[in-house]
Amino acid sequence: MSDSVNIAIDGPAGAGKSTVAKLVSEELGFLYIDTGAMYRALTLAAIRENVNTLNERDLSELLSQCRIQLLVDQNGSRVLLNDKDVTTDIRSDEVNKAVSLVSSYQSVREEMVERQRQLASITNSVLDGRDIGTFVLPNARLKVFLTATVTERARRRHEEQLSKGMPSDYEQLQADIAKRDELDSTRAFAPLKKAEDAVEIDTTTLSIAEVAQAITDLAKERTL
Ligand code: CDP
Ligand code: CDP
Repeated sequence: MSDSVNIAIDGPAGAGKSTVAKLVSEELGFLYIDTGAMYRALTLAAIRENVNTLNERDLSELLSQCRIQLLVDQNGSRVLLNDKDVTTDIRSDEVNKAVSLVSSYQSVREEMVERQRQLASITNSVLDGRDIGTFVLPNARLKVFLTATVTERARRRHEEQLSKGMPSDYEQLQADIAKRDELDSTRAFAPLKKAEDAVEIDTTTLSIAEVAQAITDLAKERTL
C-alpha cells in the first residue's frame, strides 16, 4: 500500500476540473494528473493510425504501444505521446467527438487505470477525471465532484475557444458536451458518477479562485 496522499476531482466536461486541479496542486505542492489527457492521447493515436474506434481489441493493442507522459515545466502542463508533444492536438474537435467511445471500453480503462494508480502511488497528487473517486482511487483522502449547468459549461468552453482565436459554435459545443456527458454517465464500466463520500460543488456561479480555495481548504483540513 502506498502512503501518498491523493485528491480526486471528478465531474462533467467544462465543470472546471483541470483549471482548478492545477491551482490546487500548485498550492499544495502536489503532482497534477490529468487522466482525461490520457484518454485523449489514445484517441488521437487511433485517429492518426487509422485504428477503428469501434474495435476494442485493436484499441487495446494500440494502447499497449502508446507511451503517454504528463509533464509540468516552465511551459505549463504538457502531454507527450511516444515522446512527441500533443498538448494542443488532443483538444481538437475530432478527438472531442471520439474520446467518449474510446474511453468506454473495459480493457482500455483497465490499462489506463493501472497507469493512473501507478502514478498516484509514487507521490502526493491531484487527479481529475470521471471515475477517480468511484473507481481509480476509492481511498482518496478527499473526493470532490464539480458540476455546473450545461449552458454554463458550454459558455465557458465557447469563451475559451474564442480567447484562443479558435472558431467556436456555441450551439454545437453545447450539443457535443451534452452528448459526451450522456455517453460518460451511461457506459457500463466505471461511468461518470459522484462517489457517495464526495463533496459536491456546483460551480455555476463561482469563480475559479473561489472553487480552488474551497478545495484547498478541504484538502488542508484532511491532510494536516
Ligand atoms: O476537459 P474535458 O472535461 O472536456 O474532458 P477530459 O477530462 O479531457 O476527458 C475527455 C474524455 O475522456 C471524457 O469525456 C471521458 O469520455 C474520458 N475520460 C474518462 O472516461 N475517464 C476519466 N477518468 C477521464 C476522462
Ligand atoms: O476540466 P474541465 O473540463 O472540467 O473544465 P476546465 O477545462 O478546467 O474549464 C473550462 C473553462 O471554464 C476554462 O476556460 C476555465 O477557465 C473556465 N472556468 C470558469 O470560467 N469558471 C470556473 N469556476 C471554472 C472554470
